Amino acid sequence: MNETKVIVITIDGPAASGKGSLAKKLAEMLDYDFLDTGALYRRVALKVIENNVNADEIDKIITISKDLSQNLHEKYDDSALRNDKVGEMASKVAQISDVRTNLDDFQRNFAKNVTKGAVLDGRDIGTVICPDADIKLFVTASVEKRAMRRHKELQSRGIEAKYSSVLAEMQERDERDSTRLNEHLKPSHDCHVIDTSDMTPNQVMDAALEIIGPFLH
Ligand code: DC
Repeated sequence: MNETKVIVITIDGPAASGKGSLAKKLAEMLDYDFLDTGALYRRVALKVIENNVNADEIDKIITISKDLSQNLHEKYDDSALRNDKVGEMASKVAQISDVRTNLDDFQRNFAKNVTKGAVLDGRDIGTVICPDADIKLFVTASVEKRAMRRHKELQSRGIEAKYSSVLAEMQERDERDSTRLNEHLKPSHDCHVIDTSDMTPNQVMDAALEIIGPFLH
């Protein structure tokens, strides 16, 4: 019998690097399952905010993540997660190691239970969640370029923001993500780095396909 190998692709990188849109487009093109792991942290963050829990109430946040971990398969409203307040809280709850542990099983099981292939994007997917993935991409860009993209996106949504404030927030988020995630936010020794600073989304896709192509059947 001709067994087709399941392919797992991990895409890690900092905020606004372009990893999310690349991951989604690749999964669509290859007809693979897709998991945006940042959304899991955002779902914890939204519950924390809804329950008026503060970022320093660690035990309560851990309980929220534990409860949510039982229900991660359920449908949720993604649009409620896509705002700065939730993003900021997500970056804080992601620093709590018990929260990370509570979300680990779901991510690992997702990658194990695919039939054709999967694309997972996040911060620690190639390092912690799927260290044996077939293809690991690390998508990055300079903090200035990422802040510019974020600023443009806010403007297009009619949200007033100064570029300098967006840049400062991005630097703060990088600092927080990398302090807690330390080694895990760095590219692993076996990943392919794509620096998107001077690339269009189509060029990023082409670069990714060039890396992935030889692995496809
Ligand atoms: O990718 P994002 O902006 O949706 O992620 C929100 C926050 O979640 C981000 O600040 C870092 C955290 N995160 C993480 O720690 N590990 C992941 N695998 C994904 C996201």
